[in-house]
Amino acid sequence: MGIGIDIGGTAIKGGIVDHLGVIQEERLVITQSQLGYDQVLNDLVLLIKELQQLSPKEATVGIGIPGILSADGATVVSCPNLNWQNRAVKQDLERALSLKVLLVNDATAACIAEAAFGSTRGRSSSVMLTLGTGVGGGVIINDRVISGAHGVASEVGHMIMEENFYDCNCGKNGCLETFASATALIRYCQKRIAEGVGTDLKANENFDARRIFEAAKAEDSLALAAVNRLARYLGWAIANISDLIDPEIFTIGGGLSSAGDFLLEKIKAETVSRLTYPAFAMPEIVLATFKNEAGMIGAANLGRFI
Ligand code: BGC
Repeated sequence: MGIGIDIGGTAIKGGIVDHLGVIQEERLVITQSQLGYDQVLNDLVLLIKELQQLSPKEATVGIGIPGILSADGATVVSCPNLNWQNRAVKQDLERALSLKVLLVNDATAACIAEAAFGSTRGRSSSVMLTLGTGVGGGVIINDRVISGAHGVASEVGHMIMEENFYDCNCGKNGCLETFASATALIRYCQKRIAEGVGTDLKANENFDARRIFEAAKAEDSLALAAVNRLARYLGWAIANISDLIDPEIFTIGGGLSSAGDFLLEKIKAETVSRLTYPAFAMPEIVLATFKNEAGMIGAANLGRFI
Protein backbone atom coordinates (compact mmCIF):
# COMPACT_ATOMS: atom_id res chain seq x y z
CA MET A 1 0.00 0.00 0.00
CA GLY A 2 1.38 3.43 -0.88
CA ILE A 3 0.32 7.05 -0.87
CA GLY A 4 0.67 8.64 -4.29
CA ILE A 5 0.38 12.35 -4.97
CA ASP A 6 0.23 13.98 -8.39
CA ILE A 7 0.70 17.73 -8.43
CA GLY A 8 -0.89 19.32 -11.46
CA GLY A 9 -1.25 22.94 -12.50
CA THR A 10 -4.91 23.05 -11.46
CA ALA A 11 -5.35 20.24 -8.93
CA ILE A 12 -3.33 18.10 -6.55
CA LYS A 13 -4.56 14.52 -6.54
CA GLY A 14 -3.74 12.18 -3.72
CA GLY A 15 -4.59 8.54 -3.31
CA ILE A 16 -3.98 5.39 -1.34
CA VAL A 17 -3.05 2.76 -3.90
CA ASP A 18 -2.57 -0.95 -3.28
CA HIS A 19 0.18 -3.18 -4.70
CA LEU A 20 -2.07 -4.10 -7.64
CA GLY A 21 -2.44 -0.47 -8.66
CA VAL A 22 -6.01 -0.17 -7.40
CA ILE A 23 -6.93 3.16 -5.83
CA GLN A 24 -8.49 2.60 -2.42
CA GLU A 25 -9.05 6.23 -1.43
CA GLU A 26 -8.77 9.41 -3.46
CA ARG A 27 -8.71 13.09 -2.53
CA LEU A 28 -8.33 16.25 -4.59
CA VAL A 29 -7.38 19.80 -3.65
CA ILE A 30 -7.02 22.85 -5.85
CA THR A 31 -3.44 23.87 -6.64
CA GLN A 32 -3.14 27.39 -5.29
CA SER A 33 0.21 28.14 -6.86
CA GLN A 34 -0.77 31.79 -7.34
CA LEU A 35 -0.67 32.10 -3.52
CA GLY A 36 2.96 31.01 -3.43
CA TYR A 37 5.12 28.02 -2.53
CA ASP A 38 4.27 27.93 1.18
CA GLN A 39 0.57 27.68 0.48
CA VAL A 40 0.97 24.73 -1.90
CA LEU A 41 3.34 23.04 0.54
CA ASN A 42 0.88 23.51 3.37
CA ASP A 43 -1.97 22.06 1.28
CA LEU A 44 0.25 19.11 0.40
CA VAL A 45 1.09 18.45 4.04
CA LEU A 46 -2.59 18.49 5.03
CA LEU A 47 -3.50 16.18 2.15
CA ILE A 48 -0.75 13.68 2.99
CA LYS A 49 -1.68 13.73 6.69
CA GLU A 50 -5.29 13.01 5.84
CA LEU A 51 -4.31 10.07 3.63
CA GLN A 52 -1.88 8.78 6.26
CA GLN A 53 -4.68 8.48 8.78
CA LEU A 54 -6.49 6.18 6.38
CA SER A 55 -3.52 4.02 5.43
CA PRO A 56 -1.28 1.46 7.13
CA LYS A 57 1.76 2.81 9.04
CA GLU A 58 4.28 1.40 6.56
CA ALA A 59 2.71 3.15 3.51
CA THR A 60 5.35 4.95 1.45
CA VAL A 61 4.74 8.49 0.13
CA GLY A 62 5.63 9.29 -3.49
CA ILE A 63 5.00 12.63 -5.17
CA GLY A 64 4.84 13.36 -8.90
CA ILE A 65 6.11 16.83 -9.81
CA PRO A 66 5.31 18.50 -13.15
CA GLY A 67 8.85 19.71 -13.69
CA ILE A 68 12.55 19.03 -13.45
CA LEU A 69 14.13 17.53 -10.33
CA SER A 70 17.76 17.45 -9.25
CA ALA A 71 19.60 14.15 -9.79
CA ASP A 72 19.19 13.21 -6.12
CA GLY A 73 15.44 13.83 -6.35
CA ALA A 74 15.53 16.33 -3.50
CA THR A 75 15.12 19.68 -5.20
CA VAL A 76 12.60 20.90 -7.73
CA VAL A 77 14.97 22.72 -10.04
CA SER A 78 12.44 24.14 -12.47
CA CYS A 79 8.70 23.93 -12.55
CA PRO A 80 7.23 26.87 -14.49
CA ASN A 81 3.69 25.51 -14.11
CA LEU A 82 3.85 26.01 -10.34
CA ASN A 83 6.28 28.90 -10.50
CA TRP A 84 8.86 26.93 -8.46
CA GLN A 85 12.59 27.33 -9.02
CA ASN A 86 15.20 25.56 -6.88
CA ARG A 87 12.85 24.57 -4.10
CA ALA A 88 14.04 22.04 -1.51
CA VAL A 89 10.67 20.24 -1.60
CA LYS A 90 11.85 16.92 -0.18
CA GLN A 91 13.46 18.50 2.86
CA ASP A 92 10.58 20.91 3.44
CA LEU A 93 7.99 18.12 3.30
CA GLU A 94 10.01 15.67 5.38
CA ARG A 95 10.43 18.31 8.09
CA ALA A 96 6.74 19.13 8.14
CA LEU A 97 5.62 15.50 8.08
CA SER A 98 8.45 13.79 9.99
CA LEU A 99 8.61 11.01 7.43
CA LYS A 100 10.45 10.13 4.24
CA VAL A 101 8.96 11.20 0.91
CA LEU A 102 10.13 10.37 -2.62
CA LEU A 103 9.84 12.89 -5.43
CA VAL A 104 9.65 11.93 -9.08
CA ASN A 105 8.75 13.66 -12.33
CA ASP A 106 4.99 13.34 -12.99
CA ALA A 107 5.35 11.74 -16.43
CA THR A 108 7.89 9.27 -15.07
CA ALA A 109 5.38 8.37 -12.36
CA ALA A 110 2.74 7.82 -15.06
CA CYS A 111 5.21 5.71 -17.04
CA ILE A 112 5.76 3.54 -13.95
CA ALA A 113 2.00 3.09 -13.48
CA GLU A 114 1.63 1.93 -17.09
CA ALA A 115 4.62 -0.41 -16.85
CA ALA A 116 3.51 -1.92 -13.54
CA PHE A 117 -0.21 -2.27 -14.14
CA GLY A 118 -1.26 -0.89 -17.50
CA SER A 119 -0.60 -0.65 -21.22
CA THR A 120 3.13 -1.46 -21.14
CA ARG A 121 3.00 -4.15 -18.47
CA GLY A 122 5.40 -7.00 -19.14
CA ARG A 123 7.55 -4.94 -21.55
CA SER A 124 11.06 -4.26 -20.34
CA SER A 125 11.53 -1.12 -22.45
CA SER A 126 8.84 1.49 -22.88
CA VAL A 127 8.43 5.20 -23.44
CA MET A 128 5.48 7.19 -22.24
CA LEU A 129 4.36 10.55 -23.60
CA THR A 130 1.83 12.47 -21.53
CA LEU A 131 -0.13 15.04 -23.49
CA GLY A 132 -1.76 17.62 -21.24
CA THR A 133 -1.13 21.26 -20.42
CA GLY A 134 2.49 20.35 -21.11
CA VAL A 135 4.13 17.34 -22.73
CA GLY A 136 5.85 14.96 -20.34
CA GLY A 137 7.97 11.90 -20.93
CA GLY A 138 9.00 8.76 -19.11
CA VAL A 139 11.56 6.20 -20.27
CA ILE A 140 12.08 2.69 -18.91
CA ILE A 141 14.86 0.49 -20.25
CA ASN A 142 15.57 -2.98 -18.91
CA ASP A 143 12.91 -2.41 -16.26
CA ARG A 144 14.68 0.64 -14.88
CA VAL A 145 13.63 4.28 -15.13
CA ILE A 146 16.18 6.36 -17.02
CA SER A 147 16.81 9.64 -15.24
CA GLY A 148 20.22 10.54 -16.65
CA ALA A 149 23.33 12.08 -15.15
CA HIS A 150 21.50 15.19 -13.97
CA GLY A 151 18.00 13.81 -13.42
CA VAL A 152 16.58 15.45 -16.53
CA ALA A 153 16.52 12.54 -18.98
CA SER A 154 13.14 11.88 -20.58
CA GLU A 155 12.12 15.54 -20.80
CA VAL A 156 10.60 14.66 -24.15
CA GLY A 157 8.44 17.79 -24.20
CA HIS A 158 11.50 20.00 -24.50
CA MET A 159 13.07 18.32 -27.51
CA ILE A 160 13.47 20.98 -30.18
CA MET A 161 11.41 20.29 -33.28
CA GLU A 162 11.69 23.55 -35.22
CA GLU A 163 10.93 27.22 -34.66
CA ASN A 164 7.48 27.99 -33.42
CA PHE A 165 5.44 31.17 -33.20
CA TYR A 166 5.56 31.32 -29.40
CA ASP A 167 8.13 30.44 -26.73
CA CYS A 168 7.82 27.53 -24.34
CA ASN A 169 7.35 28.11 -20.59
CA CYS A 170 10.90 26.82 -20.17
CA GLY A 171 12.19 29.86 -22.07
CA LYS A 172 13.23 28.07 -25.26
CA ASN A 173 11.63 28.21 -28.68
CA GLY A 174 10.67 25.13 -30.67
CA CYS A 175 9.94 22.63 -27.86
CA LEU A 176 7.67 19.68 -28.70
CA GLU A 177 5.39 20.93 -25.92
CA THR A 178 4.61 24.04 -27.97
CA PHE A 179 3.40 21.83 -30.83
CA ALA A 180 1.77 18.89 -29.09
CA SER A 181 0.12 19.94 -25.82
CA ALA A 182 -3.40 21.15 -25.05
CA THR A 183 -1.92 24.64 -24.75
CA ALA A 184 -0.32 24.28 -28.18
CA LEU A 185 -3.59 23.24 -29.80
CA ILE A 186 -5.46 26.18 -28.31
CA ARG A 187 -2.76 28.71 -29.16
CA TYR A 188 -2.48 27.49 -32.72
CA CYS A 189 -6.25 27.78 -33.25
CA GLN A 190 -6.36 31.22 -31.62
CA LYS A 191 -3.57 32.43 -33.88
CA ARG A 192 -5.24 31.13 -37.02
CA ILE A 193 -8.58 32.68 -35.99
CA ALA A 194 -6.83 36.02 -35.44
CA GLU A 195 -5.46 35.67 -38.96
CA GLY A 196 -9.03 35.40 -40.22
CA VAL A 197 -9.43 31.67 -40.75
CA GLY A 198 -13.07 30.56 -40.57
CA THR A 199 -14.03 27.87 -38.08
CA ASP A 200 -16.88 26.60 -35.92
CA LEU A 201 -14.63 27.12 -32.92
CA LYS A 202 -15.39 30.83 -33.06
CA ALA A 203 -18.86 30.13 -31.72
CA ASN A 204 -17.32 29.65 -28.29
CA GLU A 205 -14.57 32.11 -27.37
CA ASN A 206 -13.19 29.93 -24.58
CA PHE A 207 -12.74 26.68 -26.46
CA ASP A 208 -10.53 24.04 -24.90
CA ALA A 209 -8.63 21.08 -26.33
CA ARG A 210 -11.60 18.75 -25.92
CA ARG A 211 -13.70 21.12 -28.04
CA ILE A 212 -10.97 21.25 -30.70
CA PHE A 213 -10.96 17.45 -30.94
CA GLU A 214 -14.75 17.37 -31.18
CA ALA A 215 -14.63 19.94 -33.99
CA ALA A 216 -11.83 18.02 -35.73
CA LYS A 217 -13.90 14.84 -35.60
CA ALA A 218 -16.75 16.84 -37.18
CA GLU A 219 -14.28 17.90 -39.90
CA ASP A 220 -13.95 21.54 -39.03
CA SER A 221 -10.98 22.41 -41.23
CA LEU A 222 -9.07 24.54 -38.70
CA ALA A 223 -9.54 22.07 -35.84
CA LEU A 224 -8.51 19.21 -38.12
CA ALA A 225 -5.41 21.09 -39.26
CA ALA A 226 -4.51 21.74 -35.61
CA VAL A 227 -4.88 18.07 -34.63
CA ASN A 228 -2.98 16.90 -37.73
CA ARG A 229 -0.20 19.33 -36.91
CA LEU A 230 0.00 18.02 -33.34
CA ALA A 231 0.09 14.40 -34.59
CA ARG A 232 2.79 15.24 -37.11
CA TYR A 233 5.17 16.56 -34.46
CA LEU A 234 4.43 13.63 -32.17
CA GLY A 235 5.22 11.27 -35.04
CA TRP A 236 8.53 13.04 -35.58
CA ALA A 237 9.33 12.84 -31.88
CA ILE A 238 8.48 9.13 -31.68
CA ALA A 239 10.60 8.39 -34.75
CA ASN A 240 13.49 10.36 -33.22
CA ILE A 241 13.20 8.52 -29.91
CA SER A 242 13.04 5.19 -31.78
CA ASP A 243 16.26 6.02 -33.55
CA LEU A 244 17.91 6.77 -30.24
CA ILE A 245 16.73 3.98 -27.97
CA ASP A 246 14.48 1.65 -29.98
CA PRO A 247 11.99 0.86 -27.19
CA GLU A 248 9.52 -2.02 -27.55
CA ILE A 249 6.49 0.16 -27.05
CA PHE A 250 5.28 3.75 -26.77
CA THR A 251 2.23 4.66 -24.75
CA ILE A 252 0.30 7.89 -25.12
CA GLY A 253 -1.39 9.27 -22.00
CA GLY A 254 -2.50 12.54 -20.44
CA GLY A 255 -5.76 14.38 -21.01
CA LEU A 256 -5.45 14.55 -24.81
CA SER A 257 -5.24 10.77 -25.06
CA SER A 258 -8.97 10.64 -24.37
CA ALA A 259 -9.32 11.57 -28.07
CA GLY A 260 -8.64 7.83 -28.49
CA ASP A 261 -8.03 6.06 -31.80
CA PHE A 262 -8.79 9.24 -33.75
CA LEU A 263 -5.53 10.67 -32.42
CA LEU A 264 -3.62 7.41 -32.14
CA GLU A 265 -4.07 6.47 -35.81
CA LYS A 266 -2.82 9.88 -36.92
CA ILE A 267 0.26 9.58 -34.69
CA LYS A 268 1.02 6.11 -36.05
CA ALA A 269 0.73 7.31 -39.67
CA GLU A 270 3.09 10.22 -38.98
CA THR A 271 5.57 7.95 -37.21
CA VAL A 272 5.79 5.36 -39.96
CA SER A 273 6.59 8.01 -42.55
CA ARG A 274 9.58 9.18 -40.49
CA LEU A 275 11.21 5.94 -39.43
CA THR A 276 14.83 5.71 -40.47
CA TYR A 277 14.58 2.02 -41.27
CA PRO A 278 11.04 1.53 -42.51
CA ALA A 279 11.82 -2.10 -43.19
CA PHE A 280 12.30 -2.62 -39.44
CA ALA A 281 9.31 -3.26 -37.24
CA MET A 282 7.27 -0.18 -36.46
CA PRO A 283 7.36 0.39 -32.69
CA GLU A 284 4.10 -0.49 -31.06
CA ILE A 285 2.18 2.68 -30.14
CA VAL A 286 -0.79 2.36 -27.82
CA LEU A 287 -3.08 4.45 -25.66
CA ALA A 288 -2.37 4.51 -21.94
CA THR A 289 -4.60 2.52 -19.63
CA PHE A 290 -4.84 5.06 -16.85
CA LYS A 291 -6.11 8.49 -17.65
CA ASN A 292 -5.83 11.15 -15.00
CA GLU A 293 -4.90 8.67 -12.28
CA ALA A 294 -1.63 7.44 -13.81
CA GLY A 295 0.66 9.87 -11.97
CA MET A 296 -0.90 9.06 -8.61
CA ILE A 297 -0.79 5.28 -9.13
CA GLY A 298 2.84 5.41 -10.24
CA ALA A 299 3.91 7.74 -7.44
CA ALA A 300 2.49 5.26 -4.93
CA ASN A 301 4.53 2.44 -6.48
CA LEU A 302 7.89 4.03 -7.22
CA GLY A 303 9.96 1.22 -5.77
CA ARG A 304 9.21 -1.08 -8.69
CA PHE A 305 11.30 0.57 -11.38
CA ILE A 306 13.58 3.05 -9.61
C1 BGC B 1 7.66 19.62 -17.81
C2 BGC B 1 7.80 18.17 -17.48
C3 BGC B 1 6.46 17.59 -17.11
C4 BGC B 1 5.43 17.89 -18.18
C5 BGC B 1 4.04 17.39 -17.83
C6 BGC B 1 6.62 19.80 -18.88
O1 BGC B 1 6.48 21.15 -19.16
O2 BGC B 1 8.92 20.12 -18.25
O3 BGC B 1 8.73 17.98 -16.45
O4 BGC B 1 6.58 16.20 -16.92
O5 BGC B 1 5.37 19.28 -18.43
O6 BGC B 1 3.59 17.94 -16.65
